[in-house]
Amino acid sequence: MSTESNYRKWWKEGVVYQIYPRSFQDSTGNGIGDLRGIINRLDYIKSLGVDIIWLNPIYESPNDDNGYDISDYRSILADFGLMKDFEELLDGLHQRGLKLVMDLVVNHCSDEHQWFKSSRSSRDSLHRDFYHWWPAEKGVPPKRWSYFDVASNAWQYDETTDAYYLHYFSVKQPDLNWENPALRKEIYDMMHFWFKKGVDGFRMDVISFLSKEKPYPQLPENYTPEQYISFYAKGPQLHNYLNEMHNEVLKHYDAMTVGEAPGVTLENALDFVDEDREELNMFFHFDLMGLDRAEGEVFKMNPNGWKLGEFKKVFSDWDAVFAKKGWGSLFLSNHDFPRTVSRWGNDTAEHWRNATTLLHTFLLTMRGTPYFYNGDEIGMTNIRFENIEEYRDINTINKYKQLQELGEDLQEFIEDQKEAGRDNARTPMQWSDDINAGFTTGTPWISVNENHRGKVSVKVQEEDQYSPLQYFRKMVSIRKEHIGLVYGQYELIDSNNEQVYAYLRSWNQDRFLVMLNFSTETLTYSLPKEINYNANKLIISNDRVRDDKTYKEFMLRPYQAVVYKLI
Ligand code: NOJ
Repeated sequence: MSTESNYRKWWKEGVVYQIYPRSFQDSTGNGIGDLRGIINRLDYIKSLGVDIIWLNPIYESPNDDNGYDISDYRSILADFGLMKDFEELLDGLHQRGLKLVMDLVVNHCSDEHQWFKSSRSSRDSLHRDFYHWWPAEKGVPPKRWSYFDVASNAWQYDETTDAYYLHYFSVKQPDLNWENPALRKEIYDMMHFWFKKGVDGFRMDVISFLSKEKPYPQLPENYTPEQYISFYAKGPQLHNYLNEMHNEVLKHYDAMTVGEAPGVTLENALDFVDEDREELNMFFHFDLMGLDRAEGEVFKMNPNGWKLGEFKKVFSDWDAVFAKKGWGSLFLSNHDFPRTVSRWGNDTAEHWRNATTLLHTFLLTMRGTPYFYNGDEIGMTNIRFENIEEYRDINTINKYKQLQELGEDLQEFIEDQKEAGRDNARTPMQWSDDINAGFTTGTPWISVNENHRGKVSVKVQEEDQYSPLQYFRKMVSIRKEHIGLVYGQYELIDSNNEQVYAYLRSWNQDRFLVMLNFSTETLTYSLPKEINYNANKLIISNDRVRDDKTYKEFMLRPYQAVVYKLI
């Protein structure tokens, strides 16, 4: 391991708070969240104790995929405000000692980007090679699967030049051709533009897909979406591009980088983040996000749910990969997945509070950089829409159309989306028990969850010292006080226990014991004999703790979380 000063980094010690601008706070009454809304909430954000803000895309976009289809990388979407609002936001964050990480979406852009308009206009266009084209005279291109296409087909025929273009996401998100050095230079210049404005880093959208194998080989007929994803993540030039990006851009700044990396596995993890390779700082893997999904599928739930033993294994295996090199990122949800407490905890009235705070405890006592999605601090839950008309997400809407065309069971799909749908995470932030949860004075672009009238709002939780919000703040400050919770070695205890997740974190002389009861039962948990200590000091718990004189047996209530320091 490198020397301590080299090893310690702000982006390892920081807690990240992800803001989905469209749903955070509307300041104009048009029903869409905006930058001024975030500026108005800066003191709240600071009060959480977090250090780094990741903003989902705020660039100009026709919003086919809520901003992940960018039509101008250097301007701000009018719905969100102006460049001067962005600059004020950045200043406001920096004045409060917070960093800003922007979304970098460069696997694809919008079909309304000037580059694509030019590219599709003629085979001789200057920008023709900014995209992947397959001339129709060569026949139908080799099959590629697309996430959002109604026919799941990633090639779209375009009449003007009698050719197909590649789009791993929607037809309005053509993939950029990274094999073209002129395109890469444009992207690097654009990254410099944002760094010069003062941003502190980038979260890189589907970065594992950048490099494409050419000339587009045939793939097995029966490939599942999962198999396509692994193939997409193994483009032959990927690491050359990441290294080039590091040399051309990143190394000139004290930047944080986190790649979104579907298809990346434990086996090739270090190729991205081993410091000596000079590529990325961290990435998001998808092993946890796949845990409760149906076999070979990306968005469909497995009716059998998930097992705690498998959950532990994912976190333990990934911790081990980065034990000596690289660094991990920890997340339980984001704008693409259902709500944390609904998915990994329990959102019934009886267990919601403990389950929410247990999950706060978990993420904040693991090794790696923790990422919290806005609203999770107050335990926002899945909205579980009943009708397709209520959905706004292209992913849900296009899958529905696909199933409709195939004559499949649409009700079953709606039931599945109640747990799997991305819009569960995109409902407006619940600030208060007022109309529209204080998000907007107008009509919100997507419905507000009714439970803002109960316990799930910032306002109600500010007034309750036992609320998830207050617990979140306490837990963040505990992580800050104990550097061992950031860097300490992680050791899983009792891997087969299907109710309790227990582990040790050790750093120099400090040892912490974390016990999390993921079940709805009150139980007695006995520590294995090998774990030696004579006394312990309670650091935090989300429920009443029974004093234990033997220091070996613990009573854990449903979804109780306990952190001890071992003495
Ligand atoms: C991942 C983003 O997080 C998601 O929201 C988006 O739809 C796809 N990449 C395509 O950009």
